[in-house]
Amino acid sequence: MNKPKILVVRAIFPEVIARLKQHFEVTSNPADEIWSKTQLIGKLQGHHGVFTTGGERIDAEVVSQCPDLKICANMAVGYNNFDIPAMTAAGVMATNAPDVLTETTADFGFALLMATARRVTESEHYLRAGQWTKWRYDMFAGSDIHGSTLGILGMGRIGQGIARRGAHGFGMKVIYHNRSRLSAELETQCKASYVSKDELLKTADHVMLVVPYSPESHHTIGAAELALMKPSATLINIARGGIVDDAALAAALRGNRIAAAGLDVFEGEPNVHPDLLTVPNVVLTPHIASATLPTRLAMANLAADNLIAVLTGKEALTPLNSPLNSRLKRTLDQSNPAQAAPDNVA
Ligand code: GLV
Repeated sequence: MNKPKILVVRAIFPEVIARLKQHFEVTSNPADEIWSKTQLIGKLQGHHGVFTTGGERIDAEVVSQCPDLKICANMAVGYNNFDIPAMTAAGVMATNAPDVLTETTADFGFALLMATARRVTESEHYLRAGQWTKWRYDMFAGSDIHGSTLGILGMGRIGQGIARRGAHGFGMKVIYHNRSRLSAELETQCKASYVSKDELLKTADHVMLVVPYSPESHHTIGAAELALMKPSATLINIARGGIVDDAALAAALRGNRIAAAGLDVFEGEPNVHPDLLTVPNVVLTPHIASATLPTRLAMANLAADNLIAVLTGKEALTPLNSPLNSRLKRTLDQSNPAQAAPDNVA
């Protein structure tokens, strides 16, 4: 019996490819080429599953032109590259990779916050450029983390991880805003108080963005929101490009409307707004918040687990369109009983 066919769109861990090969006929991309949508559609023909890494758009056009496709497994917690209603309407399962990256990403949010508030990269550039000739009392004076007010916009698992670090590790006062308020138990665990978005922007010393991207959250932070923030405040974006209006942010940084920003994600990345590249008071990193090898491996294995589960007729582990789960499972049970090779990897 033929094995189901899957496409892995980017270079990933060889051990994960080897694992997938136990179950599937795998088309991989070891050269790590970036495919256009048309190329992706071409490569997907005859494939039942696709392993995506977060940058590949799967929309109505893709699912309608790839009739064999049954599951798209994202190796990312964010899934704004998926058009979930279109996928659901076409009977295509969508999965993401939550939880396994929470603590690593929260660590990075904190790293970026500290680097930004304490001007770590700006001062390093100064030193490397040979400009450090003497001590000065106010040289690269930044703002304190301990005892300050941390405002978290988006209080999902990663936001909660950042709140715990801030409150318990650094004695910060944590305020947050979210679509829905946390339970009293979670608020106590995170030592976090719920406030309106405006109050958060007006009172926080450090604003941390962890909201998922959607058309509704596009430009959550633009010129009007930046105008509400304290001139001494820092803004950290580890969420998604497009949550912040990067042009408005660059202008606010250049005009010292806010003190500094730390950005791991950008509108139109890997391109970065040219003004952000020339303002000094911003720390820029290339979307690496989840980048430790153990975490990236766990994310890749979770995407693989989802492909294996769904294409062997089981429930997805982390479905994004769960009402579809049972319906798809039946379709797969009937149409492709090949599968069911045991998954040897824990
Ligand atoms: C990273 O940005 C992710 O969504 O996992």
